[in-house]
This record gives sequence, structure tokens and C-alpha cells, in this order.
Amino acid sequence: MKKITVLILFIVSSVLSLRADEGMWPLTLIKQLENQMQAKGLKLSAEDIYSINKSCLKDAVLRLMQKNTNRMFCTGEIISNEGLFLTNHHCGYGSIQELSTPQDNILKNGFWAKTKGEERLAKFNVGILVKVEDVTDMVIGKINVNDEELIRTAAINDRLNKTKEELINRDGKNYIIDIVAFYNGNKYLAMFYEVYKDVRLVGTPPENIGKFGGETDNWMWPRHTCDFSMFRIYVDKDNKPAEFSNNNIPYTPKHFFPISLKGYKPGDFAMIMGYPGRTSRYTYSEGINFYANIDRPSRVKVRRAILDIYEESMIADPDIKLMYADKFAGLSNYWKKFKGEVDGLKKLKLYERRKEAEKNVREWIKANQKEQIYNEMFPLYDDVFAKLNKYGLYQSYFSDGIMNSQALSIALSYSAFEKLYATGKPDEETKKKIDDLAAKNAKALPELFHEFYIPIEKKVFAKVIQYLYEDIDHSLLPIEIIKLVDKYKKDYNKMAEVIFKKSMFVSKEKLEKFNSKPDYKKLKKDPVYIIAFSYYNKMNTEYKPIFDEIKNKLERANRLFQNAMMEMNAGKLYNPDANATMRLTYGTVEQYQARDAVMYKEYTSANGVIEKFTPGDIEFDAPQKLIDLMKKKDFGQYADSEGNLHTCFLTTNDITGGNSGSPVINGNGELIGTAFDGNWEAISSDFAFEPDLQRTISVDIRYTLFILDKFAGAGHLLNEMKIIK
Ligand code: ARG
Repeated sequence: MKKITVLILFIVSSVLSLRADEGMWPLTLIKQLENQMQAKGLKLSAEDIYSINKSCLKDAVLRLMQKNTNRMFCTGEIISNEGLFLTNHHCGYGSIQELSTPQDNILKNGFWAKTKGEERLAKFNVGILVKVEDVTDMVIGKINVNDEELIRTAAINDRLNKTKEELINRDGKNYIIDIVAFYNGNKYLAMFYEVYKDVRLVGTPPENIGKFGGETDNWMWPRHTCDFSMFRIYVDKDNKPAEFSNNNIPYTPKHFFPISLKGYKPGDFAMIMGYPGRTSRYTYSEGINFYANIDRPSRVKVRRAILDIYEESMIADPDIKLMYADKFAGLSNYWKKFKGEVDGLKKLKLYERRKEAEKNVREWIKANQKEQIYNEMFPLYDDVFAKLNKYGLYQSYFSDGIMNSQALSIALSYSAFEKLYATGKPDEETKKKIDDLAAKNAKALPELFHEFYIPIEKKVFAKVIQYLYEDIDHSLLPIEIIKLVDKYKKDYNKMAEVIFKKSMFVSKEKLEKFNSKPDYKKLKKDPVYIIAFSYYNKMNTEYKPIFDEIKNKLERANRLFQNAMMEMNAGKLYNPDANATMRLTYGTVEQYQARDAVMYKEYTSANGVIEKFTPGDIEFDAPQKLIDLMKKKDFGQYADSEGNLHTCFLTTNDITGGNSGSPVINGNGELIGTAFDGNWEAISSDFAFEPDLQRTISVDIRYTLFILDKFAGAGHLLNEMKIIK
């Protein structure tokens, strides 16, 4: 009897330890988690991780940002005192592709700078978080949760702008300041970033190592991808951000991660710091229904069709393969994720589970006589989802259809002229603005047409128009599109053929000419522009009140719902949805049970690379040199105690897109890997966290260093790093 209890206890606790830990925690909350983290094996204090007074781990964590928009897209970690940092191969991909030519194809062949002088300028910036400030009082002040939504939104927007101004006045212009809403607008935090613009590629493995397994293995375990690339930050002589210059010097960070070669075993503490982009964990049941049945299926459909078009040309021509590599990877990544979400949401019965949870909230409201405050949300939700079910597809096809046709999306970017011509004949001042805009457009042309292959774009255009015509209710579709398709009697290819001859949005030269002498009449007559603008314009004028209403009501309902939940579970620490700010997730290295009878081990090894290796295959080929090293087990200091090389491993951490490239850190604050993916069984994790199934997939740092050292011969970089053996 006793034995059995002991045994049961053991089973229960070991099962519990396999469960993942929900929570992408804002750094301002981690003090409250310190005890729990230390109980799991953290040897550091919360102050060591995040402090506003002294250097700490957060100083070595970066956000990768697009140059022109400042949009955050990935995470990186500094690993040397000379600004060297690691991120994923798929995060560096756009830059690596751009730095490649058919003659010097570093995407295909890999690249390692032998000296700092050989490092090459990348096409993104990096931001380092300097501090976080709670500005809820400054923003919300006396605004009431129950104020009418439009009034509230306007008041908040006004306060947001003023708060930002006040902060800039107080702290100077050295930072980019983002003020971000948490808990559906119940809390506001100001993030202060320093943005570094001189970032250079130091090294990358060849694509068949950095993207080994391709789309087939993407989002899946077991994985054998060495998904890393390395860059360096350059600064002026005062260690401050500066535009690119040959006089710039390597950045001296406040902190960099030491690297542990000691590995891990199941149950070992692991945490990840990084920039998760967006989650929707508090989505209402009917919202789940909308995503599972309308939004995701349409995006999957149009993305797949475009990918098939790309693929046909990419297989036929290596130059086109290089030209469309980044676009293909991006489209495909979320094609697969959305496809997985459709199945996952159904399989995990999320709609039913949310309904049940909402029933409980309703009952709590009733039992506690909170109807006055909260009951408003239910009719709001009903109204929102009735409208979204009718109009939502229009937006889904805008983002994944229209915007994925380059001709249409370039044309749309010219709609900025509309405002300038809106008042009729432009006066002198407006004329100058028009010329400035044209000059700016002209400057953007080389980059836009650098990756533009007419035969592909023609087919994409035809396909997108076809889907709009077939899938969107004709009472919603612009008459211009209906007429066009009818005119060509649904011969979409012929339609595209003719339109591509007439339009200027398929030719760099024609657009150069236009920008040298902008002519509104010509713009308004362009057939590609007519389609792009009519679609967009309907969304932004006729349907705008509807989409605004959806947004405002949804925000209000969500906020009320969240307040109710927090009140109902008073004392529970809520983890807010991801919003592209720095978060920490902690957990352990752990196996998982994928399905009945299938148990997945917590790491993969070089043996798996040899098993998957398929010479000549586009996804599973690998350099012969790598296979030889692996067969000889020539792993040096990167081998485990049995002489094997670990390639990737699993932890119970809670991450999402944007976390790509994040440091995986052991209990001592040392780097053990770089996070790069989630697993298939928990692919719908942006909507719901699945404690038994969810895992983060990371490259083992020993695999990264083995490639750098033994495969690429770039061992000189090890001298910059702090290696713990
Ligand atoms: N699934 C990974 C992520 O979203 C990206 C992997 C990129 N690789 C690819 N085969 N598309 O972070």
C-alpha cells in the first residue's frame, strides 16, 4: 500500500514536471516569480536578469528591426565583448539573400568573414532595451473603463501622444520610445530602446545546414536544423549608435552571454528572453470560430496557390530560386502554421472549451451581482462576430492576397498621391510635396524590382483576382473587379497578360518615367492601380465604420472580459498576451508525448542528420564535408559524455513568432542554445497554451559552435567568446 502511494506520488510529480509553463512574462513582473524560478533551478536573482540600476542579462538581448519601418521581427543575443551576436539563420535570411548574387551565392554556400574588414552590412537595425516605465497613470489617468468606447479611444490616443512627448522632453531624443498596452489596455508601459544602424554579417552556414529539413521539417520535431547566423554591431567612438561608417568600431555591450558546453538533462532549468510578437490567448469562443473557419482557411488557400507558382519557377531556375528565396520562406512559414492552426483548434476543441469558460464567467457575474459592470460585453461580442463573419474575409484576402501580389502592393503604395490631388489642382506647396513623394518612390524602385520576376507575378496576379472573384460576396467586392473578370469571361491568365502589358506597376523603367513626371490622370487610368485602389479604398472608406466598430467593440468587450476574469481570480498573476515587448519564459528541458504511444526524446543528434541526409534533395541535402565529420564523430569539445553531438533540443518554454533567435539560458545565466521554432502538436499555441504538449525547439549551442569551428574553420571567433567547459 505504502509503496503504491509513493509510486503514485512519484508518477504525479514526474508528470507534472513534464508540463510546460505558461507565461511570456514582462520583465517588470519577474521579481514576483523569483522564488518559483529558483525552485526550478535558477541560480540568479531577478535583479541579475532585469535591473534598471546595473548591467544584467536583458542588456545582451536584442530585437531585430526592419530599417525603414522599425518593425520588430526577431530576437538576437550578444555573445562577445565586441558586439558579436547570434540569431537564427531564418532571421538573417533576408540579409543573407540580399548579399548574395548568382556568382557569389552566400545563401547557398555560406559565408565567414576572416577579419572584421570582411564583414558585410546587413539590411536590418537592432534595438536594445534601456528601460521600462509604467506610465498607466499618465495615459489612463481619470479615464473610466466604462466610458463610451469611441470617447475612451480618442482620449487614450491623445494621452498616448502627450505622454510620449513628455517622456521625450524629459529624457532627450536618444531613444525610440514605444508605449504599449497590456491586458487589453488596462495597463501601459513605455519601452525605451537605443537603435543601432550599423549591423554587419559575420557568418552563416550554407542554407542546407541553416535550413536543413526545409519546409517539411518546419514546425516539427524531431529537428536537425542548425538555424543560426552571426552578426556584429558597430558604433561610433563613444560606443553610441551611428549610421554605417568605415570609422565605426565594434560595440562594447553592458553584458554578453557566456556559453556553456556542459549541456543539459531532462528537468534542468531553462529560460528564454526575447521578443514574442503577438498572441491571442484570450480570444472569445466566436473569435476562435472565425479564425478556424474563415480567416485561416482563406489565408492557407491563397498562400498555397502563390507558393505553387513560386515553386514552379524556382525549381526551373537557380537565379529565380535565389531571387524569391526570402519571399518563399516567409509565405511558407505561416502557410504551414495557419494550416496547423485550423486542424489544431478543432482537435483541441478550443471552441467548446472557451464556451465552457465563458459560461463560468457568466455564472460568476450573476452570483456576484456584477451584471451592471460586465453584462454589456456579451451583446458586444455577438455584434462583433456577426460583422466579422460577414466582412472579415475581405480583410484576410487583403493582407494575404492583394499584398502578396507585388504588382498590386506596389501600386497601392502609390495611393499616397491621392491625398495630394484630393483638392483638385495642386498649389505650389502641394506640387513640391508631390515631387518629394515621387523622388522617394523613385529611390525605392531598385529594391522593389530586385525581386520581381514577371512570369511569376503575372500568375500571382491572376490567381489573386480569381480568388477575390470566386470567394468574396459580390455585394462587397468593388464593381471594378467584377467588371474586369466578366470582360475577360473568367480567363484570368489572359486578363493578366493584357493588364501586364498596359500597367506601369510591373516595370521599373515605366515607374521611373512616371516618378520623373508624376501625372495623376495616368495613375488613375492604370489597370493594376484601379484594382488595388478600389479594393483598398472600399475597405478604408465604405467599410471603415464597420471595421472601426468591430475594433472598438472588440477592444471594449475584451477589456471587460479580462477585468471580470482578473476579479474572479483575484490574486492570480496573469500573463499578458505578447505584444512585441521583451518577455521571459522559464521552464525545463523536457521530453513530450506527441500522441498515443509516441514519446519524443528531449534532444536530437548528428545521427539524425546522417539518417535524413538525401543527396540532391532540395530540403535534405547537406554538405558532404558535414556528413564526413559526423560519420567520423569528429566532434571535439562539442561532444556529450558519450561522444555524440547534440543538434537540437526541447524545453517547456512559452514562445511565439518574434522569439526566433532568442537565447536559451541555463540556471547560471549561460547560453545553451538558440530558440527557433515551436512544435506541431501545439501549433495553435497563440490561441491556447497546451501544458502537456507545448515545447520550444532550439539549436544546441554546441552544434552551432561545431559548425563554426570544425565545419567552417571560423574558430578565431571563439577567442571573443567566453566558453564554459
Ligand atoms: N517556424 C519558424 C518560426 O516561425 C521559422 C522557420 C523558418 N524556416 C522555414 N523553413 N520557413 O520561427
